[in-house]
Amino acid sequence: MNLKSYFEEVIINILKKQGHIVKNAMVTCSNRPDLSDYQSNIAMSLAKQLKKSPITIANEITKLLSENKNLSQIRVDGPGFINVRFSNEFLENSPSIEKFSNKKIIIDYGGPNIAKEMHVGHLRSAIIGESLKRILKYCGNEVIADVHFGDWGTPIGMLITQLQQEQANLFSLTDNINNLNMTISEISDLYKRANSNFKTNEQFKEKARTATFELQKGNKTYRTIWKIIHDKSIDAVKENYEKLDVSFDLWLGESDTNDLLDIILEELLDKKIAIYSKGAVIVPLDSDKAPLILRKSDGAYTYAATDLATIKQRETNFKPDAILYVVDARQKEHFEQVFTVAKLGKLIRKEVMLEHIAFGTVNGTDGKPFKTREGNVMNLKDLIELSEKKAEENISSNLNKDDLNKQIHQIAIGSLKFQDLKNVRTSNYIFDTENFTKSEGKTGAYIQYAVARINSILEKSNINEFKEKLKITHPLEREILLQLHRFSESLVQCHNTREPSILCEYLYSLAQKFSSFYAELPINKESDINIKCARLKLIEITREVLIQGLNLLGIESPEKMLKRK
Ligand code: ARG
Repeated sequence: MNLKSYFEEVIINILKKQGHIVKNAMVTCSNRPDLSDYQSNIAMSLAKQLKKSPITIANEITKLLSENKNLSQIRVDGPGFINVRFSNEFLENSPSIEKFSNKKIIIDYGGPNIAKEMHVGHLRSAIIGESLKRILKYCGNEVIADVHFGDWGTPIGMLITQLQQEQANLFSLTDNINNLNMTISEISDLYKRANSNFKTNEQFKEKARTATFELQKGNKTYRTIWKIIHDKSIDAVKENYEKLDVSFDLWLGESDTNDLLDIILEELLDKKIAIYSKGAVIVPLDSDKAPLILRKSDGAYTYAATDLATIKQRETNFKPDAILYVVDARQKEHFEQVFTVAKLGKLIRKEVMLEHIAFGTVNGTDGKPFKTREGNVMNLKDLIELSEKKAEENISSNLNKDDLNKQIHQIAIGSLKFQDLKNVRTSNYIFDTENFTKSEGKTGAYIQYAVARINSILEKSNINEFKEKLKITHPLEREILLQLHRFSESLVQCHNTREPSILCEYLYSLAQKFSSFYAELPINKESDINIKCARLKLIEITREVLIQGLNLLGIESPEKMLKRK
């Protein structure tokens, strides 16, 4: 049990003894750490009901609180705030982490699209999704990560039509199609040309739509082209994710729902949830909003239809407790509608949580979506390269080339991810190309640096095992230890709000506390061997928590870190 829930439980039990049942003891982390560790505002909220002044209630509670040996410095402040500290003896027990949730959760993130090179827009879903996957698992859940590749919509019809225009001979013989060989950048260029035709040329648009419909219906030639483009795109996507240290259990996509599309459409029509309208099949929802289109008048299924079919597929295959979608906030309405229809149509049990984990956009300093210097969309590959260049600028080296490159990569990816994750996920943020890899400030590198620093202190100590118990002999030790105990509390919060920025704040604050501690109390100069060992033990646990915390953000910790320049 973490400190916060322990204190909550103590108060709830005291009130119970007094004959009052409360569920929430209104405990928060103290915002005056110089005075207390935790605060409860329960007295204020009970005053009316108990017809007593908050101060009287608070005093009655604290009287009993003082019998608890794990608490100290119990006091009532202001109108009735109950403030406490944990006793040093209690904190000197090693902090523990418990698994507190055991749901089966599918997490849908990444969502790259066929034929398009991955760009900065795909970054957040991958980074936030990967971190949430790790956090959810660590807290005890069974988690299944699915990339949900975007590979069954109009873009593929557009590509086919563009190919028909540019390489008509391809379509004359099946063998020609089978030998189709394009690199991902050729495919992506083809898509750009197709897209511009689609926007400007009505006839092209028409053809692309028909091609999409025929592909979905099973046209053999189109399926062959699809397969070639699909496999190439997946290879490119995998390469990007590998660089980002992002991985999936399932590499499914929209296309994997094809056999279900007709079935769910019939189901929804039968149940009178969906109706025909001008040749299309739609679900009319709120009268002030556009209906959800499932099948267009040209016969092709939509993004909403594949999402609904995916829900049914996931229900059948996994019977999950929850499905999380880590997708751009601009798709809010899409998910609201899809979730409503999925429940109405009983495509999934009603108790399954369907959650849109929305996030904001990555902007440049001009407040517009982040672009390259030349004004183009920033490719993910280029962004990773840029991060590596910046990371390299900030370290000086005496490592061999391989180790150096590995370290540059770890710092680059760590910084890229941390810069993203430290923001509250629903807000937009400005990509800072100058400072994000520096080992000062709220950066991934700052935390990675703290780990490396601890490694070197432990190494220099020449002591391999610290049998010593943790011991608080200085307020700075207490601060770190308290923060270490709060790791599990921060995970609970992070887990429940699906908000990795809470973990970023936590780790940054722990690394800061370690830095102040170390600046004030250089461990290896300590002459009292017991104190020295207890401090080594303290920083060893700090290192474990920092490494584990970074890992939950999807960030590696270099063993050694080179000096700051
Ligand atoms: N491919 C989609 C896009 O680029 C994202 C997919 C998100 N997942 C989902 N199940 N809809 O917008």
